[in-house]
Amino acid sequence: MLTNSITLLKDARAHAQCIPAFNIYNLETAQAAFQAARLAQKPVIAAFGEGYQENASLLVIAAIVKTLAGQHPYPVVLHLDHCKEIDTIYRAIDAGFTSVMYDGSRLPLKDNIANTLRVVQYAHERGVGVEGELGCMNPEDGSEMPDSISHSAYTDVNQARRYAKETGVDSLAGAVGNAHGLYKGTPHLHMERLEEIYRAVEIPLVLHGCSGIPAGQIRQAVSIAVAKINVNTELALAGSNQIAALLREKETMRLEKLMLGARERMAEVMKSFFDFA
Ligand code: 13P
Repeated sequence: MLTNSITLLKDARAHAQCIPAFNIYNLETAQAAFQAARLAQKPVIAAFGEGYQENASLLVIAAIVKTLAGQHPYPVVLHLDHCKEIDTIYRAIDAGFTSVMYDGSRLPLKDNIANTLRVVQYAHERGVGVEGELGCMNPEDGSEMPDSISHSAYTDVNQARRYAKETGVDSLAGAVGNAHGLYKGTPHLHMERLEEIYRAVEIPLVLHGCSGIPAGQIRQAVSIAVAKINVNTELALAGSNQIAALLREKETMRLEKLMLGARERMAEVMKSFFDFA
């Protein structure tokens, strides 16, 4: 069943649990997320990024996820990940997305607040949850991974308090040593900052860039503040490596079989992230 993210994340936080959010961009990636959630018997967030509109339109993804959710016994959220264009957010909500992320993190705080407020008004009138972002993370595709993640890029606690209060967002993504893509060394999340942000905003926090974060740190972050963990790179690598292995071993060259192989492997990796849920 399709549900909105507001109560789901609030409940998860109240129980110091989290909901995994997996990036999806076609039928197979969506099926993998449903398959993993069914095995785990837990809610899942299917996250479609603004940049994936070349792979599939908002309407097509909404139709796929709604159809799969109709046959699925656990709560599913259809989420728009990292979106900078407000018109795209409106179109996603109109298409049936039940959660959206407005990413104004590169804007001056005042503009980020003003834009987020517009999104929150539109979304809340339609029962849709909103995730905001503050702090400096690298691009969603991990293409610009810094050599080291500097403390100055971390989310500022006072700005976070003001942002949450003035916008009314339902959850907040922050930068506390996390980044998208492949980490160059072992990441070290700043747990104290995470806790300070959470105390200031009093809404569930979202941890982006969970691929490659040691399990103990994800667990600690969930116990402190995080109700949603975002995973993409590990899934993409699992799928691509599976296709490469099938081709190398000359198992098959048929695209539909290769895609099934990738789907199965991605579902296995997704399933492992439910251990944190
Ligand atoms: P990773 O690709 O690093 O797992 O991050 C995913 C993410 O945060 C999507 O918003």
